Amino acid sequence: MQGKPVSTTRPISKTIQGAPVPALGFGTWPLKGSECREAVVDALGLGYRHIDTARMYNNEWEVGQGLKDSGIPREEIFLTTKLWSTELEGPKVKGYLEESLQKLQTAYVDLLLIHWPNPKVLVAETLAAMMHLREEGKVRQIGVSNFPPDLLEEALRHAPVFCNQVEYHPFLSQQRLAEICRERDVLLTAYSPIAHGAVMQEPLLLEIARKYGKSPVQVTLRWLLQQEKVAAIPKAASQVNRQNNLNIFDFTLTQEEMTLIFGLARNQRLINPAWGPKWE
Ligand SMILES: NC(=O)c1ccc[n+]([C@@H]2O[C@H](COP(=O)([O-])OP(=O)(O)OC[C@H]3O[C@@H](n4cnc5c(N)ncnc54)[C@H](OP(=O)(O)O)[C@@H]3O)[C@@H](O)[C@H]2O)c1
Repeated sequence: MQGKPVSTTRPISKTIQGAPVPALGFGTWPLKGSECREAVVDALGLGYRHIDTARMYNNEWEVGQGLKDSGIPREEIFLTTKLWSTELEGPKVKGYLEESLQKLQTAYVDLLLIHWPNPKVLVAETLAAMMHLREEGKVRQIGVSNFPPDLLEEALRHAPVFCNQVEYHPFLSQQRLAEICRERDVLLTAYSPIAHGAVMQEPLLLEIARKYGKSPVQVTLRWLLQQEKVAAIPKAASQVNRQNNLNIFDFTLTQEEMTLIFGLARNQRLINPAWGPKWE
């Protein structure tokens, strides 16, 4: 069961290090070409104000075109892009970001992330180059992605990391990371937040969803956003899914329901490439 779309309701914000971030973002991987541009225009029209891309997605131009075509003022949108793990050497970082800005057709990104850690490059070196871009105003915040707790703590020793974007959904606990993020005022952005749709078959989520007249996907997104310092960036090529994912701001899960959903964790990691870090 899906509720009515709330096209005029803006996603709630999370405040990180004093800066607001729309808690529900729109993920653009693996959208490409005109499908990507049209999805971004539509998402912004529906009320999304947080868009996630990466240099590796090969869609920055279309994302930028979508931003422009939407007619939404640039300053209302929180835009994230990411440096690929082979692009982390300090002296090269500026060139890569400038190329991205050109494709995105914007003067700055709100958040620049290291997409995956690369043990061959010191994180301090990359973060120093990213901080320089922040001082120049080309990047508002800097952060990381796919950093396990120990690597996040290492990064935090070198820079004011704003965000760690990691896989997070009811079937994969991120308890330790979430604790560090709460303590250190870091945004934990959940990617693959609905486990590629697998939450739809989960009996507990179906039962809670029935109670609120929502879907298990909506309950899952709500569960994520009710957690302190957590944002989520579901991807939806389908317009109806994009609308439904935004329609989660008119109900509240009880503490008991939150706890029951935490109990679904079964260490199910969907994105685990050979170059990825060692997760505990
Ligand atoms: N930092 C990283 O390394 C990393 C890795 C992976 C992903 N990401 C980011 O996270 C974003 C989301 O992750 P993801 O694409 O892996 O997984 P996801 O958002 O968990 O799942 C996307 C899938 O769920 C479906 N879906 C979306 N809304 C739905 C709804 N309301 N009901 C039923 N099905 C629904 C989509 O279908 P349709 O498309 O057909 O609508 C699509 O097949 C990516 O786009 C990307 O921006 C980052």
